Amino acid sequence: MKVLVNDEILDRNQAKVDIEDRGYQFGDGVYEVINLYNGVPFTLKEHISRLYRSANEIGMKIYVEPEQLCKRLLDLINVNNMKDGGLYLQITRGVSHRAHQYEDSIKPRLVAYPLPYKSVQTAQSAGVEAITADDLRWLRCDIKSLNLLYNIMVKQKAHEAGAFEAILIRDGVVTEGSSSNIFIVKGGILFTHPATNKILNGITRTKLLEILDKHGWQYKTEPFTKEALMEADEVFLTSTTSEVMPITNIDGVTFSHGKPGPYTQKFQDAFRNVVNSEVGSAKKA
Ligand code: PDD
Repeated sequence: MKVLVNDEILDRNQAKVDIEDRGYQFGDGVYEVINLYNGVPFTLKEHISRLYRSANEIGMKIYVEPEQLCKRLLDLINVNNMKDGGLYLQITRGVSHRAHQYEDSIKPRLVAYPLPYKSVQTAQSAGVEAITADDLRWLRCDIKSLNLLYNIMVKQKAHEAGAFEAILIRDGVVTEGSSSNIFIVKGGILFTHPATNKILNGITRTKLLEILDKHGWQYKTEPFTKEALMEADEVFLTSTTSEVMPITNIDGVTFSHGKPGPYTQKFQDAFRNVVNSEVGSAKKA
């Protein structure tokens, strides 16, 4: 496997982390996960622009222009001859003697490499289980930061309970999943948390809302409570790796008769169609 380290494409075993990399010591950095379909990185521009936004929010200047970075990622896909799977991309503030504060002169370190393909099709057609958990994260969840400590704690809790995701609740309100955005359908209307500091504004979330706009399907980006969640007709999550994933059981309570509901299926199909058409036109270009 070949990996991108700053400006260079190297063999996997040539890529090393400095013990004083601030990403390694403090989680001082930002990241993205991008899905590939038939060699095409889906919504690449959107992911890259969120990466620059996240970096900007933590006062980190990425030394390469977004267009140049996209070009390097495409080179990485080519040298690895990638078809399906994903790209992991992270950028840390760089290497310096350990101190919480930093000098502006240190150079950010960028790493990108292929992620293996994992099929989600079976889960998408059957639906997955979730648990609920308190949202005890900081109040800048809009930044896609490397600091995922609480996210991994609750994901592990879900995993140990045999569930796929932990749905987070802050002050009685459903914010998002540990690594996904959460949607409910009630009386034919879709609800999801607004894109505030309390959630990561998912690229899949945004794409789905665009699709809804195009079709004139009704939705509200409004906070909803845990009670509303538990009384929903349908529940699903979105993320780069899961796309639109039905949730059929939460904390042992069954939703939409234990299978993906009609709205969720409609959104899954609409999302798939957009993936196919965008990937198809990228291939032709
Ligand atoms: N997770 N919320 C959180 C906290 C996330 O970590 C993610 C993505 C999302 C969905 O965002 P998007 O649609 O842009 O993937 C929402 C990625 C996939 C991860 O950490 O692996």
